[in-house]
Amino acid sequence: MLSRKVRCNSDGQDSSYFTGWQEYEKNPFDPVHNPSGIIQMGLAENQLSFELLESWVKRNQGTDWFNKQGGCIFRELALFQDYHGLPEFKKELANYMSVIRENKVEFDSKKLVLTAGSTSANETLIFCLAERGEAILIPTPYYPGFDRDLKWRPEVEVVPIHCSSSNKFAITKSGLEEAFKKAEKQELRVKAMLVTNPSNPLGTSLSLEELNLLITFAVDRGIHIVSDEIYSGTVFDSPPFISITEALHNRFPDHNSPIWRQVHVVTSLSKDLGLPGFRIGAIYSDNQELIDAATKMSSFGLISSQSQFLLSRILADKAFIQHYTKENLERLRIRQGMLVSGLKKSGIQCLESNAGLFCWVDMRRFLASDTFEAEMELWNKMLFEFGLNVSPGSSCHSVEPGWFRVCFANMSRETLHVAVQRIRDMVRIWDIKADIEIDNNC
Ligand SMILES: Cc1ncc(COP(=O)(O)O)c(C=O)c1O
Repeated sequence: MLSRKVRCNSDGQDSSYFTGWQEYEKNPFDPVHNPSGIIQMGLAENQLSFELLESWVKRNQGTDWFNKQGGCIFRELALFQDYHGLPEFKKELANYMSVIRENKVEFDSKKLVLTAGSTSANETLIFCLAERGEAILIPTPYYPGFDRDLKWRPEVEVVPIHCSSSNKFAITKSGLEEAFKKAEKQELRVKAMLVTNPSNPLGTSLSLEELNLLITFAVDRGIHIVSDEIYSGTVFDSPPFISITEALHNRFPDHNSPIWRQVHVVTSLSKDLGLPGFRIGAIYSDNQELIDAATKMSSFGLISSQSQFLLSRILADKAFIQHYTKENLERLRIRQGMLVSGLKKSGIQCLESNAGLFCWVDMRRFLASDTFEAEMELWNKMLFEFGLNVSPGSSCHSVEPGWFRVCFANMSRETLHVAVQRIRDMVRIWDIKADIEIDNNC
């Protein structure tokens, strides 16, 4: 018999978010070999600028990577096992974090803890901040993986901060207070708020007003803020991105102020550089006690020294990073526009967005009723009848049925074209059916 921990169902993997991936794996679309297969629009992966990275590697692989002054670095990398990470990599990562934030804030490599992706960063942070059974407040809709990352091993409870389409899903004071009260009613001690900025699945970044609201709430209630900023390098349109660290610095320039010990940033190269396979993430915090604890814990999910070494070389190439960032944002902007205008032609609206690898799409008019059962019915039809795997809002804990997250950066332009065409056909068929039903009822 396995442990209670692995037998319990708090791994969050029974969600339609993950089952959609499984269905895609069984029947993946291929323009030549399987043109009627399922198109994966449920995966927030950024492949739009991948060839730029490939060319960098091609250009640089001839240059004796493993030879450094005075000898070969292979031995050094192979034997390296310091869980603080390679100092040159941490320096480059801290610098990259500043560059992505347009140098409005500076990051100090001593305040970084390296982790195997943001998944590990979020889990480690919450493990360090909260006891089993304590509560973390998260605005809805949110990234489905948080249920696995926060509930499973850290064993905390997630209490949603409800956000709705009435104000474009903005975080409000009443929403925060309601969530806090709800936790108290359940006799749960609230330890932190976790926000994703820019948001997955909304594709929008937090306003200064929202950030200040979160900071004030954290000060008043003495709780932590975890800001998952793994999409900070995907802000392709205005308004510009504001990191929690920038908002905090504007209000509390003195880093000795206690609030600096309550705010922690999560970052990763999975989205901004499109390298999820390298498993490169980090926690950034001004809280030395937390940094010490998380560094010890990071031995459960270290980044291999070889990956750190390669990425330190890429990040150190400032001209390349500048070119990549500019080009990547432009490609994301064009791609998002392609999806939004394609959907618009079928009468489908998206939440106005400025970031991310996805759109938050309003399909409420296609629901048979205003329920999550009807949303699942629609999701099933899209998946099995029209070969489109998108993520239903319910898997992101949306409180309004009928919203879907649709990814646009993990496929070729041509595949997105096919996907948009399938959506058009789908809407045409549904509208014809609806007209027939109306006629029959008259
Ligand atoms: C908000 C958010 N946090 C964390 C992750 C996990 O990222 P990583 O690949 O760095 O573990 C994702 C992945 O989609 C995400 O959307």
